[in-house]
Amino acid sequence: MNLPGPGTAPEAAGPTPPPATVPPHEPPALYGPAFAADPHGHYRRLRAQGPLARVRIAPGIDAMLVTDYHAAVDLLRDTETFTKDPRAWQEGVPADSPVLPVLGHRPTALFSDGSVHARYREAINDTLALIEPHLLRAEVARIARQLIADFSATGSGDLIAQYARRLPLHVFTESFGVVPEDGERIVRGVSGMMDPAEGAAAAYADLVGVVTELVAERRARPGRDLTTYLLAHPAGLDDDEAVRQITLIMSAGHDPTTNLIGNALLRMLSDSRYGGFLHGGAMTAQEAIDEVLWRDPPLANMGAHYPRRDTEFHGVALRAGQLVMVSFAAANTQSPPVASGFDVRSGDSAHLAWSTGPHRCPAKQPALLMAMTAIEQLTSQLCDLELAVAPAELLWRPGPFHRAPAHLPVRFTPLDTLPGADGPAAPEGVDHAPARVGGTPNG
Ligand code: HEM
Repeated sequence: MNLPGPGTAPEAAGPTPPPATVPPHEPPALYGPAFAADPHGHYRRLRAQGPLARVRIAPGIDAMLVTDYHAAVDLLRDTETFTKDPRAWQEGVPADSPVLPVLGHRPTALFSDGSVHARYREAINDTLALIEPHLLRAEVARIARQLIADFSATGSGDLIAQYARRLPLHVFTESFGVVPEDGERIVRGVSGMMDPAEGAAAAYADLVGVVTELVAERRARPGRDLTTYLLAHPAGLDDDEAVRQITLIMSAGHDPTTNLIGNALLRMLSDSRYGGFLHGGAMTAQEAIDEVLWRDPPLANMGAHYPRRDTEFHGVALRAGQLVMVSFAAANTQSPPVASGFDVRSGDSAHLAWSTGPHRCPAKQPALLMAMTAIEQLTSQLCDLELAVAPAELLWRPGPFHRAPAHLPVRFTPLDTLPGADGPAAPEGVDHAPARVGGTPNG
């Protein structure tokens, strides 16, 4: 148990100036090469401190990280003690902090509590429920074939930059009725939001701009797309509220889906238990996805919450407004392991990759379907795929939020033509340099 003493008080609502020398109580950093090389070693050491431990998530920004499964579930369900609204904490954070594109407040479901959250959440849930699985599968397959056709004649490619990072956004732009000319702006906006060096704020502003135009267009001329459904929802969202929830859906959906596809493909390419793609199939992809969700959840550390008042939580003193995050990766992999399996009543797996409580992911089914279809398409078209570098040479996405390869260089027998790679060309991708500290934009 780590009841913090005076020298180890958890970080409160503000940043700490960088110390001249490293003090003995310097918390472990959840970013940088040492963390990327061995996240599970870090989690083991943090767990030894108790259910929560102090960590550094960016230079000068500390958080308390929950590593214990039961404490994580308690936190995620305890809306009485914790709020999702980061504004009090944010007051002390420099405006250019690399964590703000992820953790900074926006008027969306993710940062709301109570009745405000319930209203946004219902509109999001009901809109996503309109996605017909068979139509989504067909759409993902069409876009997947198009993306594969762009590099299949070369015999090599990067499955992150050319596939996993491009596919989800193309699906979202199609589903929300974005005209092809604006698809590229959406792709750039969502991708740019996670890269502070490229101007995350400007990228978000442009994303809001293009979605604002989309919402105005659909108000004037309704279509058969998710934007139109969201606007017509009984929650009666005004234009700005609709714009913010759509940007949340696109941005919250993009990175984790990319990570899930990338992590599952890496597992299939590098783990001999999967026996290579020649013998692969739906079960193989399903097993890889399940393993990833348990072991390397696409959002490794997230679930930001803030105590409403000074409190004690699982024996640890927390201050009002302090940043408390959940390590989904650490909670899922603690020893002895948490019960595996499936909760029949809720339909939830025991792992926390989708979080739990009122802010759990509302898009579990479409996300799984997207990832499965993307992997099936790739492995059926390019059936002799192999990694072009040793797994140890792979670069991982930096930063505390994600556990996912930054690139996945592969080689395969070049294809002359790809059956079924028809349809309009997908918008060009963007330059997908690995994100710096930062990660999933928060819409
Ligand atoms: C593998 C894919 C995905 C994973 C692992 C995942 C996981 C999560 C997690 C852990 C949260 C809670 C975050 C927090 O509290 O900080 C969350 C929230 C959310 N996710 Fe997902 N997600 C995925 C895909 C998607 C997709 C495809 C969409 C949209 C179509 C989406 C939309 C959202 C939204 C809107 C929220 C906020 C919900 C709320 O605050 O009520 N996610 N997701």
